[in-house]
Parts: sequence; C-alpha cells; structure tokens
Amino acid sequence: MDFHVEPSSILRGRTSVPGDKSISHRAIIFASIADGVSEFSNFLVSEDCMATLQAFQEMGVKVSLNKNSLFIYGVGLRGLKAPTQSINVGNSGTSARLLAGLFGAQNFNTIITGDKSLSKRPMSRIIEPLSMMGIYIESRAGCLPLKIQGTGSIKNIEYNIPVASAQVKSCILLASLYSQEKSNLYELSITRDHSERMLQAMQCPIHVKKNCISVEPTKSLEPLKMKIPGDFSSAVFLIVATLISSESSVILTKVGINPTRIGFLEIARKMGANIQLSNLRKYGSEPVADILIQSSSLKGITLDDPKIVSSAIDEFPAIFILAAYAKGKSKFGNLIELRHKESDRIASMVEGLIQIGIKTKENNEGIVITGGKPKGGVVKCYSDHRVAMSFAVAAIGASNTITIKDIESVKTSFPNFLETMQKIGAKIKRI
Ligand code: S3P
Repeated sequence: MDFHVEPSSILRGRTSVPGDKSISHRAIIFASIADGVSEFSNFLVSEDCMATLQAFQEMGVKVSLNKNSLFIYGVGLRGLKAPTQSINVGNSGTSARLLAGLFGAQNFNTIITGDKSLSKRPMSRIIEPLSMMGIYIESRAGCLPLKIQGTGSIKNIEYNIPVASAQVKSCILLASLYSQEKSNLYELSITRDHSERMLQAMQCPIHVKKNCISVEPTKSLEPLKMKIPGDFSSAVFLIVATLISSESSVILTKVGINPTRIGFLEIARKMGANIQLSNLRKYGSEPVADILIQSSSLKGITLDDPKIVSSAIDEFPAIFILAAYAKGKSKFGNLIELRHKESDRIASMVEGLIQIGIKTKENNEGIVITGGKPKGGVVKCYSDHRVAMSFAVAAIGASNTITIKDIESVKTSFPNFLETMQKIGAKIKRI
C-alpha cells in the first residue's frame, strides 16, 4: 500500500497522537514481572507493542486489552514460564533488546527472532554486557536470531555503555534486577529515561546521579496504575506538517515532554519554529503538555552536539524535512546511530530528498541539506515508519503530489496516522 499526498496549504484543529511507544513497551515488561495487577490507559496498540504483549502472554502472563486500556496480571520477578516456541518480535528493536536482558536472567532458554529489517540490526551492543553478567548468547554474527541461555545467577556489572542507547541501558537494567549485588551503568550521553522513571515508581531501588544509574538487588516490583502520554516522536510529524505549511495552526493535546526526548524542540526553535507548550502536568512520573504549533519561516542550522542528538534521535528524518524547507544550508553531524535504525536513515532520507528535488549530500555520519521547495515525486521508505511519515508530511508544502511506496511499517508506531493527518486538513489517502 502507498500514501498519496497532495499539497494542502492550511492545517487547522486540535487533536492528539497515540500513546508513547517506548513507555508502552516498558509498561508491559515491568508490569509483567511486578507482584499484582497493573492498569494502563492510552496504551499504544501498534504492531511493535503487540509483539511485546504477545511475548509475555506466551510466557504465561494474563493480560486484558480493551481499546487502549491494558491490564497486566504480574507474575513477579520469578514467575515467567518458558515459552513453547521462539519469541518473534517482528520489527521491534526495543522488544528484542529489552527482552534479551530479561530472558538472560530466567531459569529457561529462549530464542528471539525478528523480521528482515530487525535481523540486520546490531545486537552485539547487548550481547557484550550480558556476557559480562554471565549470560551465554548465541547469535548470527551479532544479529538475530539470539539463542539465550537463561541463568538464575546474574553477576552485577560496572559498565560504561559505549553507545548512546536507551535500549542497551534498559536491557542491562532488566538483567541487573536479578543480580545479588549493586550494578552501576554510565551513559555517554543521557538517553530516554522511561525505564528509570517507571522502575522508581514501582519502588525499585534504582538511583540516578548525572550519567550514572545504579540498581540495587530487589525482591519485587509494585504494580502500577498509569495513563501513558501521547508519543512526542509521533507528534513531531504533525508539528513539522504545521510548521512548513502556510497559515496553519494546530494544537496537540496530552503529549509526553520527557526532557530526555524533546531535543527536537530546541532544534526546531533554533530554526525559527513557533511552538508553544501549555497546560504542563504529569501522567505518573512522566511530564505531559499541550503543544500549539504555528506556520513558521525556517532557517538552516548546523548541529552535531551528541547531547542534543541523543534527545532527538528518532526525530532526524522529520528534522531533515524542516531543513528541506528552511532558507539556506543545514549541516548535521554525529548521526552514525541513524544508520542502525529501522532502515539506514541517512541513506533512506538522502535518496528520498534527492527524489523530491532537494539538494542533499551524505557523509559517513551526517548529512548536508540545502533548503528549497520540494517538488512532487515517488519515494521509497525502506520499511521504515519514520521515513514514510516524514515524506508524507514533506508533501504538504511541495509543489506537486508525492507518493510514498509501501507504507505498511507505519503500523508499528502510529496506526491512525492517515486519519489524524486528514483530521487537521491534510489531503492524504492510502492507495
Ligand atoms: C528506544 C530507544 C531508541 C529509539 C527507539 C526506542 C527505546 O533506540 O531509537 O525508537 O524505547 O528505548 P536506541 O536505544 O537504539 O537509541
């Protein structure tokens, strides 16, 4: 299936985006090993999160999902049952990496498999620390499938995480819950801290001091009741659509604004974006706001600060679209991690931008974009949801229709993207 998007000048209205993907995964994982019943509203019902949910059902966890309300009947830290078959996590890197940490600490063996794209993504970044903790993992040259030999006796770890990755951090945190001694993890740059916030809310002895996260041995996690914030990374597509179109004004309600996730705001504002936050409040331990966006004239930016990069890591495809509409040149560096996402996001975005007439050059860890007026065309998204949605919003201000091929991957994070875009006035259809 393809998206077919006509230029649509004015976007207006008030809407919301689905629940946060990272928090929804963690809700299932941590609640499954808590003692008692947890309840989450605004849970993200998407392919990625359903893969995690199914994994726990296969390990004997009872769940009940009614629209976006999710109940998880936690079985405790030691209550998971051996699955009868391998756990297939589809396209979801978060599921593969977080579950590997948890599985390593069980008294049974597991196999994690995934789809074609996930099977190319690096897993050695988790295999190395988990091996140091005494877990034996067989892989296919550092990639899925992973054969994990569970070990009931996990060694603690003192580890400088060599890549800025919340998935690696959370994977090690999960294994550390089962150790008899304190573990200390040190981050290169601060990455999303949803695991730390949720574990703290579940009374886990986890402490954060600057870039060091310490976990002490724990016997149990308390169940949780929480409303899941809207996903800031999904909101960004509507924000970009509004910024690049003319005379537009859109309000997005109840969006998560966790400080480790909103580097995009700093970047977009430096480029001249008019974005205002209001009605700041908290859902559980996560900050939330309403976001007012207005059409803005944008200027190019130079950016390579690793701290900002890690707090906007999923937003770069959308940021490149802002750069395509900005006056002048934008230079982005320190983006090597983008080559390891659902697709090589530097390569996929460069190809698509050139396809729609935007002068773009790539280097190993960055990209240079000369702003202009995108023209119409046909772009591929390489089974990458964020690439697909980026070009869909790029089409809003283009001079002609843009078709994005094979957009099925959008279901992994933002299943009602099309309807949400139509609601604010975008001329988008599925063909
Ligand atoms: C995620 C962490 C990030 C992000 C991904 C979700 C998470 O990946 O890109 O979409 O939920 O922990 P890395 O840890 O590989 O940076």
